[in-house]
Amino acid sequence: MAKARTVFFCQNCGAQSGKWIGKCPNCGEWNTYVEEIIQKEQSHSKQAFTPASDKPHLITDIIPGNTMRVPLPDNELNRVLGGGLVQGSLVLFGGEPGIGKSTLLLQVALTMNKMKVLYVSGEESQDQLRLRAERIGIKNQNCYILTETSIQNIFQQAEALKPELLVIDSIQTLFTGLIDSTPGSISQIRQCTADLMRYAKTTGVPVFIIGHITKDGSIAGPKVLEHMVDTVLQFEGDTHHIYRLLRTTKNRFGSTSELGIYEMTGTGLREVSNPSEVLITAREEPVSGVAIAAVTEGVRPLMIETQALVSTAAYGTPQRSATGYDLRRLSMLLAVLEKRCGFRLAAKDVFLNIAGGIKVEDPAADLAIVTAILSSGEEIPISPRYCFAGEIGLSGEIRPVNRIEQRIAEAEKMGFEQIFISRYNKKEIPKNNHIKVQTVAKMEEFFTKLFG
Ligand code: TYD
Ligand code: MG
Repeated sequence: MAKARTVFFCQNCGAQSGKWIGKCPNCGEWNTYVEEIIQKEQSHSKQAFTPASDKPHLITDIIPGNTMRVPLPDNELNRVLGGGLVQGSLVLFGGEPGIGKSTLLLQVALTMNKMKVLYVSGEESQDQLRLRAERIGIKNQNCYILTETSIQNIFQQAEALKPELLVIDSIQTLFTGLIDSTPGSISQIRQCTADLMRYAKTTGVPVFIIGHITKDGSIAGPKVLEHMVDTVLQFEGDTHHIYRLLRTTKNRFGSTSELGIYEMTGTGLREVSNPSEVLITAREEPVSGVAIAAVTEGVRPLMIETQALVSTAAYGTPQRSATGYDLRRLSMLLAVLEKRCGFRLAAKDVFLNIAGGIKVEDPAADLAIVTAILSSGEEIPISPRYCFAGEIGLSGEIRPVNRIEQRIAEAEKMGFEQIFISRYNKKEIPKNNHIKVQTVAKMEEFFTKLFG
């Protein structure tokens, strides 16, 4: 047996070092180096899959159309993958524990009727998986479950079964016998991913890898894998809310600006094909402190409800709190309202909430947010048939936003009567629309138009 060799790995970025270092020179994090045992690091002769060597080809000689896409039964997943799963691609499916990664991929495995799927779980027992499948309530004769954590055994079973789709739940539980360090360590994760990549490329079977990510990055892994895989999907959301967003952060076969939306129900995840309808509370009467923003997430237009509560501060220091929105940006908007429009907010508590547990980063939400704040502060309800899309500048000007046609089209489709946008977007307004488009350039002008 070879002498055990140890190497230190940064658990944050995966950098290697022969000795322990306090601060990682690569990513700048402190105290992230952990010693891992590597035994004869690469005994390449034992690797499961060795691709045949190829010679160089002229790029013009390569015949296009070789990327075969498998349409999945899940439209939202197809959308974020760029129109289906590419044969032989390796997809990393990341997200916080408990967000619903296993549920979604088991659901996909169960709904793939025509294809043989192998779902490998290192986290749950067969009984647990069976219970979950019953809960989801789909019956499938073509879905195989394997509870195994050794990558060599997984490949052995996969070679015998010849599945057309492989799901690995999760990369943190896998280990290869070639390396001595514990499952979940950087060197294990890296080696197992490299093996899975080779498997996907040589057999043409698409592989989904589930990877846990925590907010503070305390679980090592997915970050260091991003460069190795073809596509990185991120499953996000608040576990206390029912909505989940699926984003692409990297895609070698499509754009990264697509977004998928799901709803967590008692029987698995449900695709939300018209998110605007579910994100807005249906109200008969207009209430104060609520305004609808026409935002975009990637390329997808979304109508979301912004809610504000302004009340007199009971204690010396007024409180400001924002859920689903950047607190510093809220402070900036409050300062603009105070300084440019003369609204006295310094002695008020301001609470802001984006409904549905959604996080908004689109600056186009600014206009709806100031409207909600003023509506609450002045106790004037805003018509639920109005919506807003505009960024607010420091001098109180209303700045243009991108994709205005799509926002207007979505507002029209949802049956809004009026949309308020920046005057600098005027050129891009489509000609024959039924919605009334109000263009404004300054905050004062906006308030006059809105409140009369
Ligand atoms: P899970 O897929 O186990 O999360 P992950 O694999 O990302 O760690 O999802 C766990 C949560 O999903 C769990 O708290 C219960 C909830 N859930 C439902 O609400 N409905 C369902 O039908 C299922 C299967 C799970
Ligand atoms: Mg899981």
